[in-house]
Amino acid sequence: MGRKVTVVGAGFYGSTTALRLAEYDVFDTVVLTDILEGKPEGLALDMNQSRSIEGFETKIIGATTTPEGAGYEATADSDVVVITAGLPRKPGMSRMDLLGVNAGIVRGVAENIAEHSPNAVIIVVSNPLDEMTSLTQIATGFPKNRVMGQAGMLDTARFTNFVAEKLAVKVGVVKTLTLGSHGETMVPVPSRCTVNGRALSELLSQSQIDDLVDRTRNGGAEVVALLKTGSAYYAPSAAAARMAKAVIEGSGEVMPVCAWVDGEYEISGVYLGVEAKIGRNGVEKVVESALTPSELAALKAAAEAVRAKQADIQRL
Ligand code: LAC
Repeated sequence: MGRKVTVVGAGFYGSTTALRLAEYDVFDTVVLTDILEGKPEGLALDMNQSRSIEGFETKIIGATTTPEGAGYEATADSDVVVITAGLPRKPGMSRMDLLGVNAGIVRGVAENIAEHSPNAVIIVVSNPLDEMTSLTQIATGFPKNRVMGQAGMLDTARFTNFVAEKLAVKVGVVKTLTLGSHGETMVPVPSRCTVNGRALSELLSQSQIDDLVDRTRNGGAEVVALLKTGSAYYAPSAAAARMAKAVIEGSGEVMPVCAWVDGEYEISGVYLGVEAKIGRNGVEKVVESALTPSELAALKAAAEAVRAKQADIQRL
């Protein structure tokens, strides 16, 4: 039966994630689903026809599904599931504006996934991210380590890209970190940002760093404003696909993800962006690192903001 990953939602985010996962060639099967009849099958057919050119053997299967659960048999016994279902933002919208409509969609998907793949690790990318991750855990009833969200990898990658461009250096020599929520209360961690091992604060002024942090915080909205009809997907799909790969390989990599925090950083009982060790069972461990007092205060404030919203989620 082999290694199997399902990507729910064949929009740009989902289809790009599915293709990246197939091209890694570490899964036997990638299942791509959507409620738009024929779209996932068509995309799968097209992707499979690229296999001999790109040199991967992973088979892509497209499956049309219904909110009631028809078609989910194709996803059965997935090891990993990436949920991209839901609407993206339009220009001027905040991620939180999607809460009501995406909650209904994500809850239905989560229930169907839980029924067909009771042992899966789920990676949520639908927005608003921290809330949809929490909702998915509630709707599936899965252990909290087996449900996580993708945001920190993306926000960190954006920050890294902006720093590299600003200093005209390779992205490979830049290390950055963002924690907190995927939204207003994103917490950049300047004390963990280095270029060739040197502190970012030695290379840029505080106001230059603040500008890059602001741009990172608004990184998704900047893309939405340009595209006008959707949100970012190349960097987001790269982030989600790397997480799924880390799970199936049991790599033990430490990645910034949205994970259940229970005591770390003196924060309890909330899904929040933190660094975590990723393994075959999802989050193996939240990895705490030394933060400055102001970074820690910002992380705690982010936790409270997300906690308030996640409490509302129970009713949706
Ligand atoms: C972004 C969306 C995907 O940040 O949340 O681009």
